[in-house]
Amino acid sequence: MNSTLKTAFERSALPRSGTLVAFAEEGAALGPLASQLDKAAKGQVTRAMKAAAFEGKKEQVLDLVAPGGGLDRLILMGLGKADALTAREIELLGGAIAGTLQAAKARTATVAPLHGLKAVKEDEASALMASGASLRSYSFAAYKTKKGGKTPVLEALTLLSGDAAAARKAFVPLEAVRDGNHLARNLVNEPANVLHPVEFAARAKALAKAGLQVDVLSPAQMKKLGMNALLGVAQGSEHEARLVVMRWNGGKKGDAPLAFIGKGVTFDTGGVSIKPAAGMEDMKGDMAGAAAVTGLMLALARRKAKCNVVGAIGLVENAIDGKAQRPGDIVKSMSGQTIAVLNTDAEGRLVLADVLWYIQDRFKPKFMVNLATLTGAMMVALGKEYAGMFSNNDDLANRLFASGGATGEKVWRMPLAPEYDKLIDHDVADMKNIGGRYGGAITAAQFLQRFVNNVPWAHLDVAGTAMDSTKTPLNQSWASGWGVRLLNELVARHYEG
Ligand code: BES
Ligand code: MN
Ligand code: ZN
Repeated sequence: MNSTLKTAFERSALPRSGTLVAFAEEGAALGPLASQLDKAAKGQVTRAMKAAAFEGKKEQVLDLVAPGGGLDRLILMGLGKADALTAREIELLGGAIAGTLQAAKARTATVAPLHGLKAVKEDEASALMASGASLRSYSFAAYKTKKGGKTPVLEALTLLSGDAAAARKAFVPLEAVRDGNHLARNLVNEPANVLHPVEFAARAKALAKAGLQVDVLSPAQMKKLGMNALLGVAQGSEHEARLVVMRWNGGKKGDAPLAFIGKGVTFDTGGVSIKPAAGMEDMKGDMAGAAAVTGLMLALARRKAKCNVVGAIGLVENAIDGKAQRPGDIVKSMSGQTIAVLNTDAEGRLVLADVLWYIQDRFKPKFMVNLATLTGAMMVALGKEYAGMFSNNDDLANRLFASGGATGEKVWRMPLAPEYDKLIDHDVADMKNIGGRYGGAITAAQFLQRFVNNVPWAHLDVAGTAMDSTKTPLNQSWASGWGVRLLNELVARHYEG
């Protein structure tokens, strides 16, 4: 489905054919391999650098065809100051390398090792470049019938390193996270006629072969549990709701699990409070929170994370037929609290209300983090660069913030406060599902908090970052898979071993 780049790690030596990607630092200082080539080609590389005013500055690229030494092509990438490069910048560089090679229509290439680094070891740097390049080398081609056409795609990358075995080993967990990220992107890109709740549940179930324990609850089982808030959203659809619980038990037996919860609205028409036509097609991505949780669970299983984790996704289609929920209907949630559904388009919080309650009740987790494409208001506040974060726990919030900086999947903390509660109180029911004109992302979060007891919890509103977000060196697709890398980092930094 997605074209996965093949990567190999080899001992560093100047290749004698094909395309080589090599590096230069600011001041036009060539790295060892490029400089070796320059000597073999009697200064041709240095001459070209001068002629093109290439100085090795960050993001400068020089593409030399037939540079000598038998090579077809030398692509020189500027590093700026190598000793200032961080792990994140090196991964982004890998993405930029893949982008440059794609633009140059190269099918295969060799990448020189990075030298002169301070913060990162050379073999790790090769693994990080491989990670960046393979995150970037994604396209959703499932519905293109003219097989590949004539555009060559980057198929394989060989990364050179002083210690190829160490680089290969460092790449193993990164590859697992890449797979999780690409799975999430695939799920978000799938159209809603294909990926309805039953199909999504089947795809999650298939992850059992990766070592996850996957349980799928039917509407009858959810009804028995009292999940009327979730079921009310699904009642106007041809497609039945599903609740999927994925478990990874890589930690000590009996250790409380970490819990990740995703909004999985496979299509959001708005229901009877129907959405306007323009742009409604984007609502196939209203399950991006669930996709990220699913991708995260695959990544954790693939890299055999040393912790116990529960991933739960509430899958419904918010559609409209004669049985659809009406504005003004009152539902009783699993928690026992009643909700007046004043707007059927504020459906995500209804789904999450029951899933959050169920997970905290059944698994007594160490914390819960939920992801949801919950409100347009979140995008109004933060645009498409940061996701909004709401939390009842400073430690959890700070950890998420730091993991966001490390992965580039950044979160910005927003307020929760009892003063907002009056905006969602209702005269007949315990609460209503909309807050009014102002602070729409906050009142949504405040609503969710009513279904969380004292467990540390964070809600990430990913409406702006999960789809149609800014193109980056690591992603050019409509779906970003946002959240997989962030939450993997959170787990790896704080909750293993
Ligand atoms: N899924 C939408 C939010 C959304 C909109 C996500 C655009 C991504 C892009 C959500 O279910 C929704 O419709 N929210 C409403 C809430 C309102 C009715 C209180 C919104 O934001 O307009
Ligand atoms: Mn909606
Ligand atoms: Zn929605």
